[in-house]
Amino acid sequence: MVCLGNICRSPMAHVVLEDRLAEAGLDDRVVVHSSGTGDWHVGRPMDQRAAAVLTDAGYDASRHRARQYDESWMDAHDLVLAMDHDNLADLGGRSTRVALFRDFDPEDAGEDVPDPYYGGSDGFASVLAMVERTSDALVAELSDLLRD
Ligand code: 4NP
Repeated sequence: MVCLGNICRSPMAHVVLEDRLAEAGLDDRVVVHSSGTGDWHVGRPMDQRAAAVLTDAGYDASRHRARQYDESWMDAHDLVLAMDHDNLADLGGRSTRVALFRDFDPEDAGEDVPDPYYGGSDGFASVLAMVERTSDALVAELSDLLRD
């Protein structure tokens, strides 16, 4: 999961996707990481507004520490999902292993996860809703792919 700062969108997607994978019994098959293309927040916890929205919805937002994406990680991941088109461009565009996170959104495929950093708390609630339904769809695909 890759966004810009790794303190709002990709950490939210990371926490929700891990939760859904555990629910589906796939947490021993799929490992999730998140990072940002920028380095401003490296080592810091999640944005307080992102953490509050997650915590209110019952997720654990406490373990996150921001990391900067390193292109040498590409080969170690089967799927690298960008939160928006800028992040996608920074990753070199679509490829066999690079896509937009919301390519898997059953409601609005191919849209950005809008950056909530400069907005109000509504933006974070809206990001959570799109991250939850997209993670559900992604886990359904992964379940099919990984079925023994
Ligand atoms: P994120 O949000 O990419 O979803 O983590 C942002 C966080 C920080 C900044 C921009 C976006 N920033 O400019 O510091």
